[in-house]
Amino acid sequence: MKKIIVTGGLGYIGSHTVVELVNNGFEPIIVDNLSNSYADVYSWLGEILGHKPQFYQIDCADKSAFNDVFKANNNIKGVIHFAAFKSVCESVAQPVLYYQNNLNSLLVLLELMNEYSIGNLVFSSSCTVYGIPEGKIQVDENTMLQKPNCPYGQTKIMSEQIISDVADSCEIKATLLRYFNPIGAHESTGIGELPIGKPDNLVPFITQTAIGLRDKLSIFGNDYETPDGTCIRDFIHVTDLANAHVKALGYLGKQEERVSRFNLGTGKGHSVTELVKTFEIVTGEKLNYEFVPRRDGDVPAIYANADKSNRVLNWTCRYSLEDSLSSAWKWQKHLKKINFKIKL
Ligand code: UD1
Repeated sequence: MKKIIVTGGLGYIGSHTVVELVNNGFEPIIVDNLSNSYADVYSWLGEILGHKPQFYQIDCADKSAFNDVFKANNNIKGVIHFAAFKSVCESVAQPVLYYQNNLNSLLVLLELMNEYSIGNLVFSSSCTVYGIPEGKIQVDENTMLQKPNCPYGQTKIMSEQIISDVADSCEIKATLLRYFNPIGAHESTGIGELPIGKPDNLVPFITQTAIGLRDKLSIFGNDYETPDGTCIRDFIHVTDLANAHVKALGYLGKQEERVSRFNLGTGKGHSVTELVKTFEIVTGEKLNYEFVPRRDGDVPAIYANADKSNRVLNWTCRYSLEDSLSSAWKWQKHLKKINFKIKL
């Protein structure tokens, strides 16, 4: 079995990827400091998988602790590096925290990969690297990168640059996966998105409002230059996104270039209002929402050209927007049913 270290493996995308890795014959080794995830996710993964993968509760920036993971495991084939802070607003308020956490953990990881001669890295990047796209709002991997307008986005651009420099200088090959907007939950309803505190992201805010944990959804801005005035995003089911990581590992084995870059989106853009309406239709729930002024740092409109991922990784999305929203709603109802205490 191929051992893969998955940093941030108890987070939202990380946990769904752990499931897909096991389903595809890999042995994930989870490294997570639980700074933005619940320990319960580990038990839930055990229920879905029928066994518990190895889990180390450590911080990737702690080199000595992280070193022990590499020392204890022979034959590690690669690393998927999810562990990072991801709140745009928080990064504006606490830039040092973001640069320190996101860059230090990556640097330690790269040092250890080099020391233990582990040559395959899949990195969680983001469409934030495209900033506010000039010209077309459907971006491909050759679209010029723009300065992101928050420290979180900067850490993604800087991480991509660091990885490229390191890959040029040693035996590491890397795949940079640029995520659009992951939503939805695993079809077992055993795991899903579970933010700690008030959600920054749209869909958990919607489902928490619909279930009565929040009064109303604020839609940030309805005066953008888009057909209905609200922002446009590319919402992708988290399981589709997770599957792309399995494909990326397969591709790394034969990848000729030192670093490859892939957009992971559906290739379709939907406005925030469209998403809300679709949620109401698929769930039959009436959502309480209001339009409020724009949120600082929001990109008006962006969606993926995912042709390269479809072609080179042989990867496509299986789930529709309706599937994604219906699974997100099932997940929120499941949390209520098991009386899970969400940290609000
Ligand atoms: C942003 C980044 C993404 C990054 C993610 C990390 C861009 C284009 N995207 O996602 O790369 O990985 O942060 O968290 O920079 N919205 C509301 N009300 C809410 C919440 C959100 O109206 O309560 C709107 C936002 O204004 C936005 C859309 O919903 O237009 C999506 O927001 P969100 O889910 O936070 O994701 P992004 O900001 O697109």
